[in-house]
Amino acid sequence: MFLNGGPMIFTGQAHPVLAKRICEYLDCDLGAAEFSKFNNDNTFVRILDNVRHRDVFIVQPTAYPVNDNIMEMLIFIDAARRASAGRITAVIPYYSYARTDKKDQPRVPITGRLIADLIHTAGADRVVLVDLHAAQVQGFFSTVVDELTALPMLADYFAKKDISTEDLVVVAPDIGSSRRSRVFATRLNVPLAIVEKRRLGNNDQVETLNVIGNVEGKYALLFDDEINTGSTMIAAANILADKGSKGIYACATHAVLPGDAAQKLTAVPNLKELVITDTMPLEDRKRHPKITVVPIAPLVGEAIRRIHEGRSVGALFR
Ligand code: R5P
Repeated sequence: MFLNGGPMIFTGQAHPVLAKRICEYLDCDLGAAEFSKFNNDNTFVRILDNVRHRDVFIVQPTAYPVNDNIMEMLIFIDAARRASAGRITAVIPYYSYARTDKKDQPRVPITGRLIADLIHTAGADRVVLVDLHAAQVQGFFSTVVDELTALPMLADYFAKKDISTEDLVVVAPDIGSSRRSRVFATRLNVPLAIVEKRRLGNNDQVETLNVIGNVEGKYALLFDDEINTGSTMIAAANILADKGSKGIYACATHAVLPGDAAQKLTAVPNLKELVITDTMPLEDRKRHPKITVVPIAPLVGEAIRRIHEGRSVGALFR
């Protein structure tokens, strides 16, 4: 493949602030594009820069409004392909629908796979993703996948805090996240505990049953890939308080926090701090003195630089 010039970064309308920060990291200009909706609700994207034979990166987390942002990304990829881009990478810092990843009830879809197929069909050569709900979701993509993780950044944030490792235990808020939490705990050199949780039906209600491991007299550091309604974290914080934990820290790569979720979560009395990244826009409702944001742009920007230069992305996490 012959590619002209440096990487060209474009953004859809999902999270332009993040794309601008990525450009600042890479010291390049954001590519120009315009967006409109026809009065029949059809989305239109026009790329205003010449992308012929260029290495094009389209930044678009599939955040709220999820379906509009997915459609806009697909249309953007199609426009780039038809404009003879040399290579197209869809940079999707938050991949929605990743939780719809198996046929675990009769007559249900696997939407995580469907969207991956659409991205491929639209013309993406590669995708860059950040902390998928489950690593196996990578296998839904026929395109090349680079999955980045915010785990080291989040662990470093807590390593620099003034909490003795004697006083700290990492807690997986459910069994599904225990493997990832084990890596987090090892990185911080502290023990791991696991909350046993079960979901009630297809809505966002959860029930906690037990805590495996000792949290008594310690600060519990909950670690998850995503906080959506906050139900998982709130239920975990409550059971950890019952088990004698002296305070809760929580962190997650993706913070969806619809409606008043952030208010509910930050109102949990024993929650000392919630640390998230900005893979999704940080609307005012997600801002609170208890919420700290670790920027994701340097990680995504560095991955883009390495992909463009043909250097290892995995080396970023060793
Ligand atoms: C799923 O099981 C994930 O790892 C998270 O625990 C989940 O997305 C959190 O959702 P919520 O905040 O609505 O409980």
